Amino acid sequence: MAEPAATLRVVVLVSGSGSNLQSLIDSVHRPGGDIEVVLVVSSRGGVPALGRAESAGIPTRVVALDGREREARDRELAAVVEEARPGLVVLAGWMSILTGAFLDRFPDRVINLHPSLLPAFPGLHAIEQALAWGVRYTGVTVHFAEEVVDGGPPIVQEPVPVMYGDDADALTARIREVEHRLVPEAVRLFAAGRVRRDPVDRRRVEIVPGVER
Ligand code: GRF
Repeated sequence: MAEPAATLRVVVLVSGSGSNLQSLIDSVHRPGGDIEVVLVVSSRGGVPALGRAESAGIPTRVVALDGREREARDRELAAVVEEARPGLVVLAGWMSILTGAFLDRFPDRVINLHPSLLPAFPGLHAIEQALAWGVRYTGVTVHFAEEVVDGGPPIVQEPVPVMYGDDADALTARIREVEHRLVPEAVRLFAAGRVRRDPVDRRRVEIVPGVER
């Protein structure tokens, strides 16, 4: 009989509502299965994302900036995350800039979600900027996290149409729906060993053909 595949241990970093965390809990999190969310860390206490994790029986921690230098916070964050022995760290609505003190500890293992088709509209107000520009399509990007905010190479992207008359709420709702599909899809690709970052040209990511689990 074939060896059972190892579990991809996933740590999810959150700051707020945690709807993307919920999509992971609902669609890929299987304790002892292929993919397990083993820890949720929030940059803020008392946020709904923490309640979602607790309801699913997933351990939680809060690591806030608390007026510290980012590097000091990131060293603590790295220690907390490392203890969970993650194969993948997912920034799902984590709203705090990360430095090399964290990112360098998990090379090619930290991915971020952004509500636009990067490189368009990086930063905090991607949805409002897409509306202000009048673009016909915006979208969702899941990409490798690097020190440049929203600057790492994309892993999966999907366009989302902007409809005439959309306001920020309407467009946000359409984008969220895609996020809730795309983040689990990216995690499944990692679990299946199908995400390969080119060791020479670091901007290139290959999705290796295969069967998604
Ligand atoms: C997502 O739209 C993500 O793109 C942005 O923050 C939002 C987080 O939402 N960076 P949630 O906390 O997962 O509900």
